[in-house]
Amino acid sequence: MLTAAENELLTQTGPGTPVGELLRRYWHAVAPAADLTREPVRPVRLLGEDLTLFRTENGGFGLIGDRCAHRAISLAYGIPQANGLRCAYHGWTYDPDGHVVDMPFEAACLPLKIKAYPVEQLGGLLFAYLGPPPAPLLPRWDLLVRDDMNKTITPTLLPCNWLQCMDNSLDPAHFEHLHGVYGNYVMKKLGKPPMLHPGRHVKIDFEVFEYGIYKRRLLEGQAEDTPDWTVGHPILFPNILAQGNSDRMSFQFRVPVDDTHTMDCIVDAVRPKDGEPLWDTPVVRDDPLMYDETGRILATYINRQDEMAWVGQGSITDRTIEHLVTSDKGILLYRRVLQENVERVQRGEDPLGVVRDAAKNFPMIQIRRGSQYEGFRGGVPEGQWGGFQTAVVSA
Ligand SMILES: [Fe+2]
Repeated sequence: MLTAAENELLTQTGPGTPVGELLRRYWHAVAPAADLTREPVRPVRLLGEDLTLFRTENGGFGLIGDRCAHRAISLAYGIPQANGLRCAYHGWTYDPDGHVVDMPFEAACLPLKIKAYPVEQLGGLLFAYLGPPPAPLLPRWDLLVRDDMNKTITPTLLPCNWLQCMDNSLDPAHFEHLHGVYGNYVMKKLGKPPMLHPGRHVKIDFEVFEYGIYKRRLLEGQAEDTPDWTVGHPILFPNILAQGNSDRMSFQFRVPVDDTHTMDCIVDAVRPKDGEPLWDTPVVRDDPLMYDETGRILATYINRQDEMAWVGQGSITDRTIEHLVTSDKGILLYRRVLQENVERVQRGEDPLGVVRDAAKNFPMIQIRRGSQYEGFRGGVPEGQWGGFQTAVVSA
């Protein structure tokens, strides 16, 4: 249980808030790059800031404030140029650094600048850094860098605070009930066979490492040398869940849009089997939340069941009324690590996992993963799991 003040501190993401300042020390996935090919100017909201994301005619990217410095029209109506973005109203033009570089109806261009943040492209995603300079390196995570895998990007906007997603990722035990008992209940209502029969958790453990926290579990019937227990899988601090193995893996970026909305950006990567084609670019899937006639989220596969749980806790869940128990020890650890890293930032230090060493970043940062899933299958053939979304387990 947290006090109201503690809950507020851990959930606020705007500029100047303690966790908002911590989150601003990391690069955040802001959109699939392909979205900007389809529509080169997009209003975006990230960490409570309204911004304009654009692709120049030269193929560069910019992320600048949402309002023209002239008379405050939305720059989402802007027109991409070779050198930046031209406001629809009077043509004032902004370069990717936010400088006004053209005022068509004035004799000279005033030296004005609006907010602007660096953008980098990696693995089919655009990442933005909203913190103070110098920006750290964009982490070259293996899943993003590997070019031998077919990747699917599924961004879903959720009406809830980001920390609810992270609480879930440090809570292995929910898998048995949310994805087993509840998932099978949903299947039964739909007249379908059970989705999975998870083994019972015998023990869980957590370990802080260079880039975050490893989560490990041992299920009934598993030997102690199972990779689920000896390796586990990590939460890349502060807001990425990494899953899978070397042939099939996923990342879930839980990107705070603002305090009451999160973009759950899931990237699934699968190494094609012999003879299968390798895709040229990642596929972007649209998979918005769907609701039943009572207003409840339809949760027919694992990731959606997790999203249902986060949204089901309310927009910012009230942690003053929670009762954490023994299976919640990972949540307690995560909140402690969050608090410790807020303090590191306040002392002027880099927080956990920030990458500034190019030698560590190139060619990629390999993440050890030990998710095997045998304990979850429980005799249900993979083909009956309900499709691709259930094949890479989110827990
Ligand atoms: Fe889950």
